Amino acid sequence: MIQSVPEAPAPRPLPAARSSLAVTISGKCPPSTVARAKQAARGWRIPFIERKPKAPLTPLFEAFADALLVFGVDELVLWDRAGSLRFSPGMARLRIKRLDAGIEDDLLVRLARFESGASVLDCTLGLGADALVAARAVGPKGRVVGLEKSLALYALSSIGLEAHQVGSRSCRIEVLHRDAGDFLAEARPGTFDYILFDPMFERPRRSSPSFETMRRFADHAPLTATMLRDAARVAQRAVLVKGSRYSHTLRRLGLAAEPSSRSASVVWAKLVGQASSSVCPEPTCPARPPDATTRPAPPRPEE
Ligand SMILES: C[S@@+](CC[C@H](N)C(=O)[O-])C[C@H]1O[C@@H](n2cnc3c(N)ncnc32)[C@H](O)[C@@H]1O
Repeated sequence: MIQSVPEAPAPRPLPAARSSLAVTISGKCPPSTVARAKQAARGWRIPFIERKPKAPLTPLFEAFADALLVFGVDELVLWDRAGSLRFSPGMARLRIKRLDAGIEDDLLVRLARFESGASVLDCTLGLGADALVAARAVGPKGRVVGLEKSLALYALSSIGLEAHQVGSRSCRIEVLHRDAGDFLAEARPGTFDYILFDPMFERPRRSSPSFETMRRFADHAPLTATMLRDAARVAQRAVLVKGSRYSHTLRRLGLAAEPSSRSASVVWAKLVGQASSSVCPEPTCPARPPDATTRPAPPRPEE
């Protein structure tokens, strides 16, 4: 005889777990914005938090999340308790204006010598300023893919770049939430013409409050020799690495900064990609990128 098993009591709903990042809406939003915010939260696999009109954010930080992506009617703002960050093309606007005017003094563009129609992989997209300049340099027939490891910054730049008017002389930027190291390890040789790296500087320069917010959300892992070696395999033409004049990041990777104005605090180094000629003067442009067997330059006493 089969005895009936008493029904288990319905489980009590668990209190919502605290999350490092969540989505909500700005004070007053139409239903279409609420729907968009909910859909984005699902896509990013983070919670959506209901917010009453005009309710302050502080209780949401206390109860639910360390940081919030706040959807408004036509913008997305990243907030934590210390400040906020919006997508903005920033200096890219001015750099592109100068390119449009035929002024070719942009350090990255001068060094890379981007060809029209070429493909570019930006391994450290951030808010996309360098990627926007590259998109203008390769033009509407080119291709620019940007990788961003931080989910908060990926969210800001993917939504921001989608809404950004690039104009008829640029291509659009495809944004992926990926770790550049993993992406490069899996990529086929010669997939992109140019590869860019702009890792976070070890010693931050004085910066604006919004840049401070960006620093709190950015991934600070240093660029490694393995990533550089993979990038040289994946790049047909060149790998470009940004560094600070006042740090030893480039030298530690066996790279030397290309000559630039003495007043410039930012410098770039260039490696030739695999498909390029192997004849290239050392040390600024080694035919082989540094790898585990290449001894890095010895650190200076102050390091
Ligand atoms: C200095 S910012 C880049 C700024 C960008 N070049 C621009 O013009 O706006 C560096 C960015 O790279 C991201 N990042 C660092 N390591 C990464 C990795 N391994 N994969 C993808 N993104 C990474 C950081 O989260 C940060 O947003």
